[in-house]
Amino acid sequence: MDSLRIEGGVPLKGEIVVSGAKNAALPLIAAGLVTDGTLRLRNVPDLVDTGSMEVLLRNHGMDVGRTGDMLVIGGSATNFDAPYDLVRKMRASILVLGPLLARYGQARVSLPGGCAIGTRPVDLHIRAMQAFGAIVELADGYIQARAPGGLTGARVVFPMVSVGATENAMIAATLAKGTSEIVNAAREPEISDLAECLIAMGARITGHGTDTITIEGVDSLGDATHDVIPDRIEAGTFAIAAAITGGELTLQNARARHLDSLFEVLRRCGITIDENDDGIRVAANGGIGSADITTDPFPGFPTDLQAQFMALMCLADGSSRISETVFENRFMHVPELMRMGADIQVDGGIAMVRGKPSLTPAPVMATDLRASVSLVLAALATEGTSEVSRIYHLDRGYSDLEAKLGQCGARMHRV
Ligand code: UD1
Repeated sequence: MDSLRIEGGVPLKGEIVVSGAKNAALPLIAAGLVTDGTLRLRNVPDLVDTGSMEVLLRNHGMDVGRTGDMLVIGGSATNFDAPYDLVRKMRASILVLGPLLARYGQARVSLPGGCAIGTRPVDLHIRAMQAFGAIVELADGYIQARAPGGLTGARVVFPMVSVGATENAMIAATLAKGTSEIVNAAREPEISDLAECLIAMGARITGHGTDTITIEGVDSLGDATHDVIPDRIEAGTFAIAAAITGGELTLQNARARHLDSLFEVLRRCGITIDENDDGIRVAANGGIGSADITTDPFPGFPTDLQAQFMALMCLADGSSRISETVFENRFMHVPELMRMGADIQVDGGIAMVRGKPSLTPAPVMATDLRASVSLVLAALATEGTSEVSRIYHLDRGYSDLEAKLGQCGARMHRV
């Protein structure tokens, strides 16, 4: 099994081009199922997860081709089963439910199964499809859904904010008869990106980016060409890499307005962030101040940057209270950071981090995507050699991580 050997202590300096967003690309690829036409997606990151979504669409009978960072999705689905073997690899596979039901009136999707960061149910996805008139049964570990006469527009009120359920509901509603309203919708930039792509196909959607999305159903959707937005979580991770190593990085192709909550906190920690023609420059100024954060749906602090920020706070001048409200059990990086000498106490969804001047190198183990990269960041900031094992998680969400950080001075290689 691959691991990363990292010789830390080098301030990272240079420029990094941010890739297309994984979490935007996954629902966009799934949306290829809802159109009669051809969907051309540009700036699609080449990741294990996007590859898994391509395989899933091919399994449904779609034609999917990749040239560089462009994916072309066409044809029609002939198989409506998303099997456990594919779905268990990636929870976002649930995103085929809405498009298959809306366009073909049937879908059989495996329940995603356990995930390391909490129970993560899919009840909100199912409830939305039922609101649109689908008949849904759970049997043999599968969601079996039918809508023989097509879906009907409805008002869907989510009791909590869910990115994936909002995406599934929005895609399904594009072909439902009549008007739909999604209330308490997620406002993540990835939702707006999906809405823009669906609109380019001919969907009638307003209110995306707010907590109420209105969709007027249409009879069919057509061709579209769409550019995937830059990955705000990758950009945020690199911003923290600059801060934690005492370096300076310019992030090309990143959108500052997608990272307001992180940048506000980093500035409070004494990090300089400015936007110029080359991109967003993030520079440390000697010493890291401490700050408290609470994760929340967008525009709040992203849960997907919580682990990376915690690594930074392990080296801050002072204490930090990190409150995780989006997922239960998203502190698996804590024991690993403590193996490197970090001082962290967890009580339920709250972690108290007491910053230290330095950490010590240690062998550590990656547990999920963002936890893994937080360990890489901690290792980059630590004098000596650390080894991060089980890094296959990293390949699910970061393209060319070693090359991108390596060109900025990081000494890391796969063993
Ligand atoms: C997406 C992101 C993930 C990110 C998360 C929160 C993708 C592919 N993944 O995941 O990186 O961490 O948003 O920003 O975009 N929930 C339910 N019932 C449901 C659905 C969700 O209770 O039917 C709960 C979850 O357990 C969690 C919370 O809602 O506690 C938010 O989850 P959700 O926004 O749905 O996350 P994902 O879409 O899975």
